[in-house]
Amino acid sequence: MEVIIQESEQDSCVLAARIVASHVRAKPDAVLGLATGTTPIPFYQELVRLYLEKQVDFSRVTTFNLDEYVGLSPEHPQSYHAYMRKNFFDLVNVPEKNIHIPDGMASDVETFCSEYEREITDAGGIDIQLLGIGHDGHIGFNEPTSSLSSRTRIKTLTRQTLEANARFFESGSPVPHHVITMGIGTIMESRTCLMLAYGAGKAAAVARMVEGPLTAAFPASILQYHARAKVILDRAAAGQLTLTEYFEWVYRNKPSWQRP
Ligand code: GLP
Repeated sequence: MEVIIQESEQDSCVLAARIVASHVRAKPDAVLGLATGTTPIPFYQELVRLYLEKQVDFSRVTTFNLDEYVGLSPEHPQSYHAYMRKNFFDLVNVPEKNIHIPDGMASDVETFCSEYEREITDAGGIDIQLLGIGHDGHIGFNEPTSSLSSRTRIKTLTRQTLEANARFFESGSPVPHHVITMGIGTIMESRTCLMLAYGAGKAAAVARMVEGPLTAAFPASILQYHARAKVILDRAAAGQLTLTEYFEWVYRNKPSWQRP
C-alpha cells in the first residue's frame, strides 16, 4: 500500500486527478472504476478542469460505478446516476454507451449483478478503481463482515451508513435500505485502487485501514492485500497514523519516473 500525504484536500484531489489523467493518456481506452460520495467531488472538478484544458480525453474510456441505491430511478436526484451526470458525465466526453452504473430499478437483481460482472470482464477489467472510505470501513457499499471475495450483489446498509447518508436526502424522505454494490472481490481485481480520504473525521477509519488488522469487520483493510493500492490523504485524515514520517520519507524519495 502506498500512502501519500498531501497538505490539503485540494492537493490530494489534484494529485489523484493527475494520476487518472496520466493513466488515460497512456491508455486512451482505459476502464475506470468510479465512486460517489462527498469525497470525490473536488476530484471530479479537477478532472473536468484537465479535460477542458485538453490535457485528457475520455472519448474512448469505459466506466463502471461502484454502487447504486435499490429503488431509485436514474432520474431521482439522490441516485448515483444523477450524481455522476451532475459531477462528471455531463461535463466531459465519456460516450454514453461506455457508461455503466448499477441499475437500482433492476427487476431481477441477481441476473443484473452477474451481467454487471460479465460486462466488467468483457471490457478487459478495471484499470483504476477510485474509492472513498465509510466511517465503518465500507468500500463501495460493502459493509462490515462483507465477504472479502464478494462479487456485485444486493446489500443492506447499516444504521450508521443510513444516518450518514441521510444528509443527502430531503428531510423526511427515507434513505433506501438496500443497494447494489460491486463486491470486495470485484474491487480487488482492479489493476490499481486509488483511495481518497480527507478531514479529521476520517482519521480513525484511515488508521484502521492502513495499520489495523486485515479483517472483514473493516472491509477497507483488504487494500493491504492489493498489489497496487494508492491511498491519498490530507494531513487531517493522516492524523492517527503512526507511520506518517515513513510514508512521507518514501514519497519524498520516490524516483522521478514513478511520479505521475
Ligand atoms: C458512501 C459510498 C462510498 C463512499 C462512502 C464515503 O456511502 N457508497 O462509495 O466512499 O460512503 O462517503 P463520503 O465520501 O461522503 O464520506
